[in-house]
Amino acid sequence: MQIARSIEDLRRLLKPAKQRTFVPTMGNLHAGHLELVKVAKQTLPDAMSVASIFVNRLQFAPHEDFDSYPRTFDNDCALLEAQGCDVVFAPQEKDLYPEPQVFKVHPPAELADILEGAFRPGFFVGVSTVVHKLFNCVQPDVAVFGKKDYQQLMVIQRMVQQMALPIQIVGVVTLRAEDGLALSSRNGYLSPAERARAVELSGALKAMVASVRNNLSGKVSGDASKVITQIEEQAMQSLRDKGWQPDYLVVRHRHDLSLVTQFSNAPLVALGAARLGSTRLIDNLEI
Ligand code: PAJ
Repeated sequence: MQIARSIEDLRRLLKPAKQRTFVPTMGNLHAGHLELVKVAKQTLPDAMSVASIFVNRLQFAPHEDFDSYPRTFDNDCALLEAQGCDVVFAPQEKDLYPEPQVFKVHPPAELADILEGAFRPGFFVGVSTVVHKLFNCVQPDVAVFGKKDYQQLMVIQRMVQQMALPIQIVGVVTLRAEDGLALSSRNGYLSPAERARAVELSGALKAMVASVRNNLSGKVSGDASKVITQIEEQAMQSLRDKGWQPDYLVVRHRHDLSLVTQFSNAPLVALGAARLGSTRLIDNLEI
């Protein structure tokens, strides 16, 4: 496995590659990230497989955890090598952002200013901008993202489609710990007592999925807003009762995350974000 520390290094290493797969990450890798590398290799076995490790300042608000975000570069490289990754792109900040990044990708408000974007203003501008830039550096044929960050995957898919980027985007199901907690680098912030309770978030989403199934099954028309709002409010209250501070727990249409107002056969997804102590976790379940 080779490590590229600058864009120039990367371009030199990738020159002989006819095809490339790409998994962008912020490091502190866990089995979820490694699954993306595995899927990338399965999707294009003959391609050179590239993963990036870059904690992207642009997607963190000033009060967020940019400085304390876990950086475990040597361990990450060992894991990537064991997974058969060919090239790690780990640029220095001054290499990817040699001057303030004033050209930015602005995803549409209806997708990027809701849910995560409503609670983390500017987050998806930061994500879209760095992913677009990383795409330009790596020029992948296939790029793999996790469904754990459901809205992020949708924003990237739309960006690729609207900008006519010649990249196939692949989404991978969320890897979970044995108790059901979605794997995440931020789980490391949890105290042992919080870690033991952290599964309550996916528990709340599961309960929402069950209520949606009970209340919506067989109904293909009529006003659904009241039922959905009730399910969402119950889920918020159940997490509050357990000592969480939920940002949102919602049921949305899968294809564009729009509100569910009518009973129909359209596929849905339950999404949630909530704080346990000072740690903010997100998760989702397709219905
Ligand atoms: P990061 O949080 O490191 O996640 C990198 C990729 O791993 C994302 O596509 C994310 O959805 C996926 N992932 C995280 N946890 C997962 C899990 N439990 N199962 C499956 N996949 C999982 O997401 C980012 O970094 C950044 O926003 C980035 C796209 C790199 C841009 O900076």
